[in-house]
Amino acid sequence: MVETKLSFEELLHEKFVTADAIPEKFALPGEINQREYLSNGEMKQWNGTVHPVYSPICVNTPEGLQRKLIGSYPICTEAEAAEALDAAVKAYDNGRGEWPTMNVAQRIACVAKFTAKMLEQKDIVVKLIMWEIGKSYADSVKEFDRTVEYINATIDALKGIDREASRFEGEQGIVAQVRRSPLGVVLCMGPFNYPLNETFTTLIPAIIMGNTLLFKPPKHGTLLHYPLLQAFQECFPKGVVNTIYGRGNTIVPGLMQSGKIDVLTLIGSSRVANELKKLHPKVNRLRAILGLDAKNAAIITPKADLKQAVQETVLGSLSFNGQRCTALKIIFVHRSIAHAFSKQLSEEVNKLKIGMPWEPGVALTPLPEPGKPAYLKDIIDDAVAHGAKVVNENGGVTVESLVFPAVLYPVNDQMKVYREEQFGPVIPVVPYDDLETPIQYLIDSTHGQQVSIFSYDKNEVASLIDPLMNQVSRVNINCQCQRGPDVFPFTGRKDSAEGTLSVVDALRSFSIRSLVATKLNDANTQLFNDIVSENLCNSLSRKYIF
Ligand code: G3H
Repeated sequence: MVETKLSFEELLHEKFVTADAIPEKFALPGEINQREYLSNGEMKQWNGTVHPVYSPICVNTPEGLQRKLIGSYPICTEAEAAEALDAAVKAYDNGRGEWPTMNVAQRIACVAKFTAKMLEQKDIVVKLIMWEIGKSYADSVKEFDRTVEYINATIDALKGIDREASRFEGEQGIVAQVRRSPLGVVLCMGPFNYPLNETFTTLIPAIIMGNTLLFKPPKHGTLLHYPLLQAFQECFPKGVVNTIYGRGNTIVPGLMQSGKIDVLTLIGSSRVANELKKLHPKVNRLRAILGLDAKNAAIITPKADLKQAVQETVLGSLSFNGQRCTALKIIFVHRSIAHAFSKQLSEEVNKLKIGMPWEPGVALTPLPEPGKPAYLKDIIDDAVAHGAKVVNENGGVTVESLVFPAVLYPVNDQMKVYREEQFGPVIPVVPYDDLETPIQYLIDSTHGQQVSIFSYDKNEVASLIDPLMNQVSRVNINCQCQRGPDVFPFTGRKDSAEGTLSVVDALRSFSIRSLVATKLNDANTQLFNDIVSENLCNSLSRKYIF
């Protein structure tokens, strides 16, 4: 009998299993049909239109591959968004509300209580990350754990800031106590690629500093927040955390136009951030803390350890299928080694396991954005039309949401992929003759997040660090670009970011230094001492948090 070998497409097709072959350990308990949302301290019922949530994970059915329906969530209107805004404004109450005037120790206690309740929901939240955005189970667990670590580190950092602030400073006959105060009402929107972690790296610092919040979950990655709503309700005073659901372009513009949003924090596209900022009537009142687009480059010189450069490029460009803002999205390689590099890179890419998120060791998984496979095909076709080749076997082969990575070589400035942020499994390799080429690329780029330099020549590395430090905000030497460790500053230049995030920087970003000052004389000293010793005030206090 002649065995017919399956084509790569057929192999990819087989990765999607039938419904009854989904391992029980990773299955959801059933469809999750969310019909409530948290606003003004209440879980409000929603009887209107809903958005069906289809997983990027398809099931193999007699009718072919079908994205699995995992649940639905409310599509609320401008009216519910306006109610949530009113609740946040009322809870802030011009800085006189219970939450913004609560002392730091009490606010920390609320966040710690929330964290304990969040941990109780770990199993379902992790599964929803996996089912909603196709992230591998292992990485979904990591995302949850990293978020809890971030919250705990934030609590510790705030204790440190508050301890420092418990002293008085004297200068030129004036004595003052300098503290950090909240900014007001924060509109918080997170991205689909780290729907829990990146959302919470802005949401938690925003609330712990005493602000009140309107929170819109990302379009892909909404349901995973549902199991946490009750914890928000139980741990914070009413109106401090309000959720808004619905089409962003319907419900968000009105919020901005109201002029009642004090801080916009968004991890997403610079286009959306620009449009929203322009809608606010009081430009000087609005603060923005933004993590936006990036097109991080790797620069690989003949003095690099080629094997290491290949390994880091694979990690940097393909972790979570390249759907990271910090991913390496363009690889400049010196022409003398470009061919060898592309060959080794192709070999390593082709060793990666593609499959369902629950498979052990899986590296490449289904893509959540329904239009993404077609977009990736378009940029691959465009590169090929302009002279590049897909150099790895099966590169770009697509079945439904599974796209096998394409290594494109040689890429030039005529191709879309040279400038566009692909945010997916496509690796463009550009040969260069002179280091000025990648330096000029970064100068001309509208982005300025990070860069990776691969070389072990001390003079060469040193000569690149200085010009590149002024183009981007992090220069990585012989390693991929990344956000972590989370205590390091995470920001970018140009269209890549506004403000700085990190455990400590985020606390600063969501607050303003305010001080109580007086002329140093006996009467004022007596007055301050009385207020402090009798604990009459939260802002003028020597209370020390351990
Ligand atoms: O999408 C951007 C994330 O901040 C990247 O974080 O570099 O730790 O994966 P990461």
